[in-house]
Amino acid sequence: MKVLVCGGAGYIGSHTCVALIEQGQEVVIYDNLCRGTLAAVDHVRQLSGAQVRFVQGDVRDRGTLETLLATGFHAVIHFAALKIMSESCQYPLAYFDNNVTGTVALLQAMRATGVQQLVFSSSAAVYGDPETVPITEEAPLRASNPYSHTKLVMEQLIGEVCDARPSFSAAILRYFNPAGAHPSGLMGEDPCGLPTNLMPYVSQVAAGMHPRLSVFGGDYPTRDGTGVRDYIHVMDLADAHVRALDVLQHGGCHVLNLGTGRGYSVLEVIAAFERVSGCRIPYEIVARRVGDVAEVWADTSRAEKALGWHAQYDLLRMCADAWRWQSMHPQGCQSSQPIEAQRQASIG
Ligand code: UD1
Repeated sequence: MKVLVCGGAGYIGSHTCVALIEQGQEVVIYDNLCRGTLAAVDHVRQLSGAQVRFVQGDVRDRGTLETLLATGFHAVIHFAALKIMSESCQYPLAYFDNNVTGTVALLQAMRATGVQQLVFSSSAAVYGDPETVPITEEAPLRASNPYSHTKLVMEQLIGEVCDARPSFSAAILRYFNPAGAHPSGLMGEDPCGLPTNLMPYVSQVAAGMHPRLSVFGGDYPTRDGTGVRDYIHVMDLADAHVRALDVLQHGGCHVLNLGTGRGYSVLEVIAAFERVSGCRIPYEIVARRVGDVAEVWADTSRAEKALGWHAQYDLLRMCADAWRWQSMHPQGCQSSQPIEAQRQASIG
């Protein structure tokens, strides 16, 4: 299969590209590099040993997408979205434009070129504050901020396209909390600026980049008072995308939770990270973060059945791989090589 990976130079996208190539698929990466990096593209090439084509472009650019898709693709995997909740509250229009307008343009380009299979990157953020855990795909959807609202609108749009065109099939994958890195240490999460997510922040504290971690809230109704989440290794997510492409051969619109089915508190993540890294993670419990919920973890039975998949990697492994990546990239990927040098080396 030939697969267009929109947002393939990002964290989950780059890991998925390597997994796809390892399974014998041909991959073209399409990314505007607003959050993805050329270093990630290079690492995909290095790890897969393939001459992966990279096209720098925006998912809102329907013309370029159409020209590209017209060269013959079987499927698209769509990761190209902005994902920082706090940023989305500041810039709701930019979030709707990039995420929703981009998805409309992509769907139009797919229709124009007859590409009928889509794997879409969604998020457990669509569940908002869940009534019960574990969360099944049937749980009520409640977008409580512009970011999760864009995910919900994109999901609905894709579902409606599936309804309107029986030949079109989609897998909507709702990620819980992606974490970890490629076992080689070459690829990992490279947040631009100060990380907002827990795992990259913990890694940077371990690396001495920040004096301590602020733990947002110690008074949640959880086992130790801190927030509980379902962390899922990025390698397990990548594997699920490869399997989702197989499922699409049989048609349909599939909405699937991707998690481990197990929740860990912030203090448990800190303890696991300290154990694998041998570093102390100083922390202080501060006020709750606006928009945070007490506990979120997935019922993964539908994904297990549909994809013949379940998460292989545990929390210790996520921490160990995140730490390896952090140790090998003390300043992140972008600064490991001057950006202009990356640009010249990588754009084919
Ligand atoms: C966050 C976003 C969510 C997005 C997801 C994936 C918010 C409110 N939610 O989810 O929209 O889909 O990331 O990108 O931003 N924590 C700390 N200290 C920190 C960072 C986090 O204590 O410095 C805690 C949080 O309170 C939470 C847990 O760690 O209990 C996980 O946080 P995070 O990694 O930001 O993920 P979510 O809040 O689940």
